[in-house]
Amino acid sequence: MSDQAPPRVLVFDSGIGGLSVAACIHQLLPSVDLVYLADNAGFPYGDKPETVVVDRCCTLIAHALEQYPSDVIVVACNTASTVVLPHLRAMTSVPVVGVVPAIKPAAAKTRNRRIGLLATPATIRRPYLDRLIKEFAGDCRVERIGHPGLVRWAEDLVSGGVVPVDELEEAMKAFREAGVDTVVLGCTHYPLLLDGLKTSLPSVRFWMDSGDAIARRVAWLLEQTDQVADAWEDITEPARSPVSAALFSDSAPDGIARFMSELGLSVQLVRGTWPAKPTEAGSA
Ligand code: DGL
Repeated sequence: MSDQAPPRVLVFDSGIGGLSVAACIHQLLPSVDLVYLADNAGFPYGDKPETVVVDRCCTLIAHALEQYPSDVIVVACNTASTVVLPHLRAMTSVPVVGVVPAIKPAAAKTRNRRIGLLATPATIRRPYLDRLIKEFAGDCRVERIGHPGLVRWAEDLVSGGVVPVDELEEAMKAFREAGVDTVVLGCTHYPLLLDGLKTSLPSVRFWMDSGDAIARRVAWLLEQTDQVADAWEDITEPARSPVSAALFSDSAPDGIARFMSELGLSVQLVRGTWPAKPTEAGSA
């Protein structure tokens, strides 16, 4: 086992959705030290102007890096990734990984060339998405749903909320009518709703999200700096938790430590203060 500190990855989202990506990174690279940063004071990003999203992301990530210097930054939010990546790359030399809706792998999977794209209202509208579809799924019919409720339903799961089945049924109507056989989860909150989505769309064969691809990209970046061996290694010291800090720009949601540990992401108790006055969730 290496004496070096494990590589650290800062995972950012507007809320809890990025935990679905953090879980994939932890699964592939169990010894990576994860710091989770959520702008829950700015949630949801899906209805915010681009300039606000860019400003909030850059400010919060800059503060987090001061206290938790990291080897890789993951913007685990599709909505933010469509606008913030060039700004972050200009701000820091730390490699930045963004999330892109998995249109390309969906086009490779679909049998009937009918794909459903589920994303936030903001992501659905971005010209970037039009280019992605044209480039990788030009021969497919891509039916888009940009529903404002789904991210909120996913957030409610933290406090034990239940997904409203009837509303979800209604929200998925366009996919049923289009007969899609593949659905792209173009928001990192949506893998957390997968059980309900599968029940609502039983004929969908392929569910595509970007979590595993992001994890592989993080592994590749760490490999470039010879840190990947430390990341693969499974440290079995009982005191160590995969997430060393969970930082929230508003009060941490009740039940977040339990929710994270259900995803295999137990949080280590953190002491100290953070410059942007977030609250820190620990394994209470
Ligand atoms: N998880 C974010 C995404 O992937 C949620 C966006 C929001 O805050 O509306 O888009």
